[in-house]
Amino acid sequence: MSELRDALESLRTDASARVASVADANALAELRHELLGRSGTLTALLKQLGSVPAEERPALGQLANRVRAELEAAIEARQSALAGDDDDAWLAEEALDMSAPGRPVPIGHLHPVMTLMRDVREIFHAYGFEVFEGPEIETEEYNFELLNIPPDHPSRDLWDTLYVAEPGSVEAGNPEPARDETILRTHTSPVQIRAMRALEPPIRILMPGRCFRHDAVDASHGFEFFQIEGLVVDRDTSLADLKGLLEEVARALYGRDVPTRFRPGYYPFTEPSVAFDIGCLVCGGEGCPACKRTGWMTILGAGMVHPTVLRNGGFDPDEFQGYAFGMGPDRMTMLRHGIGDIRLVFSADLRFGTQFPAGH
Ligand code: DAH
Repeated sequence: MSELRDALESLRTDASARVASVADANALAELRHELLGRSGTLTALLKQLGSVPAEERPALGQLANRVRAELEAAIEARQSALAGDDDDAWLAEEALDMSAPGRPVPIGHLHPVMTLMRDVREIFHAYGFEVFEGPEIETEEYNFELLNIPPDHPSRDLWDTLYVAEPGSVEAGNPEPARDETILRTHTSPVQIRAMRALEPPIRILMPGRCFRHDAVDASHGFEFFQIEGLVVDRDTSLADLKGLLEEVARALYGRDVPTRFRPGYYPFTEPSVAFDIGCLVCGGEGCPACKRTGWMTILGAGMVHPTVLRNGGFDPDEFQGYAFGMGPDRMTMLRHGIGDIRLVFSADLRFGTQFPAGH
């Protein structure tokens, strides 16, 4: 009965060719059903085996099994080939070259003024100072009066101060908006009062922050700048403590051999008041344009907290003393790096910022 043998042989070749040319997984599943399913081509041929003479049956049966095994293997191979093709298609579409070297990601770092402020904070931290912050928008009372600066004091001059207009008066279309008593703080000293009122003695705090003045901008002035205020209030502090502390801080910031000096100064909120200088970092003390030929550079003002200010902070000056200081981190940064123009410090120019070490 070679008819069945021929049919099986031609199924073997035709089906193999069809399997190899199938284009996707769905078509392959359908073809499998058509060839090998329960009412498929192979099953139909096997049914004819019953009418074949008994002596031919085993050989034909074996052939039919081989054809089934071969078709199953071919279908499986096609299946994984199709899956593999899919992977390749995705890769080609993404055009992803896994062997290409990575592009460097630009990473920013702190502004040199921020780096200096963190260094200062770190140094004072070693002496037990904590950070206390106050608002940039202040009242005249905190910014001036409570610091012993009465209304007729020269620093109360309107030109020194940026007032915050009453929002209502602007909305009403008033060309001359009324000034209220809210200002942009001109220094960080008002935070002294806020801290004294909020904290229990002994107080050892640093108060860093942004300040504003009604100043024309030039190489050494900006209308905004940073200050770091310091305050110690305790039962037993003295000018000697203040001097010792500031000398250590100057050494930590500018090196062990940096010359320092104190000069008498004047601030309404300290008595006595001092200015603290370091030897000029540019000329080493010989005198140059950077130090106005004095050989010294002033980095901060300081003094013993005025009794009136202590009282305004809620302390009895007969029981407590305090010392305070205020430094300018912008100027200190300029000294540190030899920067000649403060406008560079406040520009957002990356060519400036990226010239400095990253800090921490
Ligand atoms: N507030 C002063 C200023 O803006 C700086 C200052 C001087 C702060 C002496 C102080 C101080 O605490 O004791 O110029």
